[in-house]
Amino acid sequence: MEPTAEDPGAGSCAVSAPLPGQTAKFRLERRGKVVEGFIINVGGSHRAYVNRCPHAGTPLDLWPNEFLTEDGQHLICATHGAIFEPRSGVCVEGPCPGAALEPLVVEGQGPRLVVRCRN
Ligand code: FES
Repeated sequence: MEPTAEDPGAGSCAVSAPLPGQTAKFRLERRGKVVEGFIINVGGSHRAYVNRCPHAGTPLDLWPNEFLTEDGQHLICATHGAIFEPRSGVCVEGPCPGAALEPLVVEGQGPRLVVRCRN
């Protein structure tokens, strides 16, 4: 997607929609910098976030594409164990309660989706 006058430098990328309870990683460009993100299917609805923990700024997945708690109900940061609500990205347990993952916009339906930066 080309940057628009209203949103210069906004990046986007096409991703394959993960199945329910699964995640997938992707990269897109924002103002000339590569941003790593991930998308999760939460009960048929997709959410995407920048892969950066609000606690200390590390990627959540110490092991590639491992974003979920053992029961699959929440997102977890492997560095210090922050737990995030997957629909909102808000930390509900751990070292940064109330802080949130940076959301990305998910557009489209079906097997191919488009993810783009909000700013
Ligand atoms: S960096 Fe994620 S919990 Fe500390």
